[in-house]
Amino acid sequence: MSYNLLEGKRGIIFGALDEHSIAWKTAERVHEEGGQFVLTNAPIAMRMGSINTLAEKTGSEIIPADATKTEDLENLIEKAQEILGGKIDFVLHSIGMSINVRKGKHYTDQNYDWTHKGLDVSAMSFHRVMQVLFQKDAMNEWGSIVALTYMAAQRVFPDYNDMAENKAFLESVARSFGYHFGKKKNVRVNTISQSPTPTTAGKGVKGFDGFIAYADKMSPLGNATAQDCADYTVTLFSDLTKRVTLQNLYNDGGFSNMGVSEEVIDKFTEE
Ligand SMILES: NC(=O)c1ccc[n+]([C@@H]2O[C@H](COP(=O)([O-])OP(=O)(O)OC[C@H]3O[C@@H](n4cnc5c(N)ncnc54)[C@H](O)[C@@H]3O)[C@@H](O)[C@H]2O)c1
Repeated sequence: MSYNLLEGKRGIIFGALDEHSIAWKTAERVHEEGGQFVLTNAPIAMRMGSINTLAEKTGSEIIPADATKTEDLENLIEKAQEILGGKIDFVLHSIGMSINVRKGKHYTDQNYDWTHKGLDVSAMSFHRVMQVLFQKDAMNEWGSIVALTYMAAQRVFPDYNDMAENKAFLESVARSFGYHFGKKKNVRVNTISQSPTPTTAGKGVKGFDGFIAYADKMSPLGNATAQDCADYTVTLFSDLTKRVTLQNLYNDGGFSNMGVSEEVIDKFTEE
């Protein structure tokens, strides 16, 4: 169902790789709500994924940009304004990658070059995107910027590896930059802390199947899907959440406030 919540708004959506991506579902929902946007991803992801299909479906243009390269982001943000015909109202940062996770390197035996690269891609990129937007004065008043995160920033999930630190960094950047963007332009900056979700990035985490099933059994409302995350993001881009900022917002079916659930206890007391 559409409520036209984003009619007349222009944005940039990072990180739609394939139809499972949270950014993909978000782009579809934003389109349904009347928002216009430019899609972007790393040049290498363009070759692997199917972003063209999404672009056609949503009437969007694609501008490749490696989120670790300031010059790519400058080009993206200039071109996006030209294509969309004005300043930007909403930005989704939906980017994450750890080489240590991908290559199965244990947390206690990290390759620091990989750790460094993962931090750059997953977390520093959020600062970089906002710095370019800020310096170019590319955001409209009362715009909204959202990044996606995971609860391993607060609690221990051993197989999440160095992504835990990347998410802690990302959430901190949301607060710190959110202050400056709020003061300068009334722009809000938040992170959504999402349930485990079966995407390319999600499934890369060791033991993902057990992980997602456990979270589902622990959450009174069950795991939030990528579609749920897209819906939530639409509300944060809309004018209905104008003074929500500097927050880490859980979209997790209640998981983050649970101690234990009956289902999980039952599993441990099974004969
Ligand atoms: N899937 C989950 O379980 C889960 C849970 C909580 C949070 N998240 C977060 O959601 C976000 C989106 O991930 P997803 O689950 O949709 O997986 P995904 O693999 O579909 O998306 C990750 C995206 O990051 C992009 N990317 C990687 N390096 C990049 C670079 N240098 N420049 C630009 N883009 C780059 C990839 O091309 C891809 O499109 C990530 O931040 C992820 O950590 C995912």
